[in-house]
Amino acid sequence: MAIIELQSVKGTRDFYPEDMRLRSWLFGHFRDIARSFGYEEYDACVLEHAELYIRKAGDEITRQLYDFRDKGDRHVALRPELTPSLARMVMAKGASLPLPARWFAIPQCFRYEETQRGRKREHFQWNMDCVGLASVAAEAELMAAQAELCRRVGLKVDAGAGEPEVVWRVSNRQVLGHALEQLGIRGEQFAQVCVCIDKRDKIGDEGTLAELAKVGVDGERGAAILRLLDVRGLDALAAAVPADNPGLVALRELMELLASWGIAHLVRIDLSVIRGLSYYTGTVWEVFAQAGTFRRAIAGGGRYDRLTETLGGSPVPMVGFGFGDIPIAEVLAELGRLPALGRGLDAVVFPMSAKEFAVANRFAARLRAQGRTVVVDYACRRFKNVIERAEQDGAGRLYIIGGNEVKAGVAVERVLGGSERVENRVPLEAPAQPSP
Ligand code: HAM
Repeated sequence: MAIIELQSVKGTRDFYPEDMRLRSWLFGHFRDIARSFGYEEYDACVLEHAELYIRKAGDEITRQLYDFRDKGDRHVALRPELTPSLARMVMAKGASLPLPARWFAIPQCFRYEETQRGRKREHFQWNMDCVGLASVAAEAELMAAQAELCRRVGLKVDAGAGEPEVVWRVSNRQVLGHALEQLGIRGEQFAQVCVCIDKRDKIGDEGTLAELAKVGVDGERGAAILRLLDVRGLDALAAAVPADNPGLVALRELMELLASWGIAHLVRIDLSVIRGLSYYTGTVWEVFAQAGTFRRAIAGGGRYDRLTETLGGSPVPMVGFGFGDIPIAEVLAELGRLPALGRGLDAVVFPMSAKEFAVANRFAARLRAQGRTVVVDYACRRFKNVIERAEQDGAGRLYIIGGNEVKAGVAVERVLGGSERVENRVPLEAPAQPSP
């Protein structure tokens, strides 16, 4: 008989219970924070219309699609991101959707990319998006939520606590967009320029200029673009572009709002941040860990006020972010900050033979009604093995029920984990909650 492949598909993960504990821990924080900011959870199907991701500007995501034709000859794809589905859902609701809408989701996404540290072909991505608000107040709120997540999972972000362990590198595409308009570059050509310059880190200045030439930007204009990308900080930006540059104006306003959230110290204005998705129109940002050696973005976001329009609807201001589950776990693991999470088992009930199963089940049900997590050990094995396994699983109590106990109407309660043996007899009909 042929042996099946035991590894999961390349670039995808299996989640054993111990992995699932960490995933639930992280997603719990994602959900708690989003809800505390008044965002409502939504989702879409992992299978989407492929055309939603096929963009003319040459986005890398289009080339990484897991797409195929279904049996009805529809061109479909496993979603590489949730944002286009969100735009589709917003468009489908039309005017009946009360705006602003604040929505969040934790979708699983698929991208056929090179697997490397922090990058796989499948990942989960916490998304928070604000629909229908043109003010950068939305960006500030979203960044504050991300900062709160970083704080909750144990990263140093508070002012006065020394060098922050995470920073937000923020830019605004309108800075460049406005400057390029003066050079006659706008619309689709601007989107193409953004996709080219997003690759600068990988392909260097020469490579970027060559790519820019391919989309019709000559050497001189290309060099002007690169100079602008080297600008760091609001002051340098103010010196580099006219005071009425809308990107500069928006970044100024954003910094003031971020100060009111108490997170301005985490933000670096950095014009080299462009983001690889062509739909962004305004603020763009990426979150980086400074502690440890992981140097890729742990989250990215931006404003995309025209995505619904490019999909054939009317424009709706939208802004949001995606925060992957893999990069943050990578950072926390390296810093030794991942929590040690137990199985969360309170008690094991041990019927000594099959004759006691029914009594054990009723007893376990009473414990569960008290809110305790209880396993009944039906293995009828040696007592030593029962105790060993219950302790391994982190249970605090073992309840032993044999024929004599049933006759006496009690269970023997053994307190686990201590150095001395402690045993009590508890009534089967009305077990008391043990004191912790
Ligand atoms: P993105 O920058 O492509 O943006 O992805 C956001 C985050 O998802 C990344 O910073 C990273 O944490 C995680 N991520 C992406 N690809 C992978 C991968 N192959 N393996 C592991 N993690 C990955 C977006 O997707 C936008 N749709 C975000 C957004 C929402 N913009 C507005 N709203």
